[in-house]
Amino acid sequence: MTPRIIKTIHEMQTESNRIQTSGKTIGFVPTMGFLHEGHLGLIRIARKQADVVVLSIYVNPTQFGPNEDLAKYPRDFEWDAKLAAQEGVDIIFYPTDEEMYPQGFVTTVRVDQLTEGLCGASRPGHFDGVTTICAKIFNVVKPNFAIFGQKDAQQALVIRQMVRDLNLDLEIVIAPIVREADGLAMSSRNVYLSPDERQDALALRQSLQLAESIIQQSERNTSVVLQKMREFIESKSTTKIDYVEIVDAESLQPIAELSGKVLIALAVFVGKTRLIDNVLIEPPS
Ligand code: PAF
Repeated sequence: MTPRIIKTIHEMQTESNRIQTSGKTIGFVPTMGFLHEGHLGLIRIARKQADVVVLSIYVNPTQFGPNEDLAKYPRDFEWDAKLAAQEGVDIIFYPTDEEMYPQGFVTTVRVDQLTEGLCGASRPGHFDGVTTICAKIFNVVKPNFAIFGQKDAQQALVIRQMVRDLNLDLEIVIAPIVREADGLAMSSRNVYLSPDERQDALALRQSLQLAESIIQQSERNTSVVLQKMREFIESKSTTKIDYVEIVDAESLQPIAELSGKVLIALAVFVGKTRLIDNVLIEPPS
């Protein structure tokens, strides 16, 4: 069935209230569109667990820095709507900038600490934009649960913290990373890669696998692991490291010795395209 397309906050809130009053649950997948298998995986989880699935498609300007790719961020609403229909999405919330940020809008929702390192350090203000738009959209869609991908590990933790701190009445579900057959994590930005860059981009996943195997061989010093990862990534001609870090999986604070559950996360420019990837591991003590 073709999803209903809703463009205004008023109409979406009215519909969400109607659904909730009828005793049905709402599963929500927030996106910036240009859907790929990663998004479809999130939609499928929502479809299995909720009566009504709402997908939002909104390229949120406040989470892009002045030198980032907002203007050329890939968009194809017709294609997205077709995929959403195939996956059984009931409603697409597709607002305009004027609807989300009307004149006079001056509020920012900010999560401290978790946003300081990793992507937060290299993209100042990015997470303020993400938390602000998610807080707004949660209030509009009123979902029982919202699904985020583990690929954006820091984003998922930041949103979960915001929901906890502000007592927002929904559950945050974090879904596993979806990868291409050769291991590259699915991303809307992969379309920017030239054939050579596409090949070099495999270094992200491969460096994470390298780290896992070094750790399996009992290495517990994070500097040693990070150095080997950096050397591997830098051996590719089109890559430039933004960051490669090993942090505590909950606090996202860097750690010197590997113990407990850790997140190995990286952001790498492949040509001009910034890609991220990560793995969660718990080395045996
Ligand atoms: O992950 C994304 O696509 C965006 O950051 C989100 C969560 C839709 C907020 O704009």
